[in-house]
Amino acid sequence: MKSLFASATFILVLLTSCTPKATTVAEAPKSATSTAEQIAQGKTIYETSCKRCHKLYEPTQFTSVEWVGIMNAMAPKAKLTEEQHQWVYDYVVSVKK
Ligand code: HEC
Repeated sequence: MKSLFASATFILVLLTSCTPKATTVAEAPKSATSTAEQIAQGKTIYETSCKRCHKLYEPTQFTSVEWVGIMNAMAPKAKLTEEQHQWVYDYVVSVKK
């Protein structure tokens, strides 16, 4: 019974894993830079998710290269999705020095 359930789950995963492809095709092509809207979202995420454990750092405190490493370390801590990670990064590097 247990294995029957397991294989049913497996088939279900197979079926559902095929579905997102249709929507992926319909999506707009990924652009290298974020839109103003995404940067604004990045700012909001930054201001809400990044001050839970420490004070909010000034985006201008670090270079864009330093922010790559910081975001790689902090995005998982803040449980950001890949998109949110990108938006927050684009926000912090968009702030003028
Ligand atoms: C779960 C707790 C936690 C969350 C959430 C968190 N941080 Fe941090 N952060 C830390 C800790 C702990 C340190 C200091 C130790 C270290 O560098 O790993 C730190 C250090 C930093 C530093 C200093 C790095 C340096 O080199 O001086 C920056 C900048 C930073 N975090 C940015 C962020 C940003 C941006 C976010 C949101 C995406 C974020 N943090 C979310 C725990 C967190």
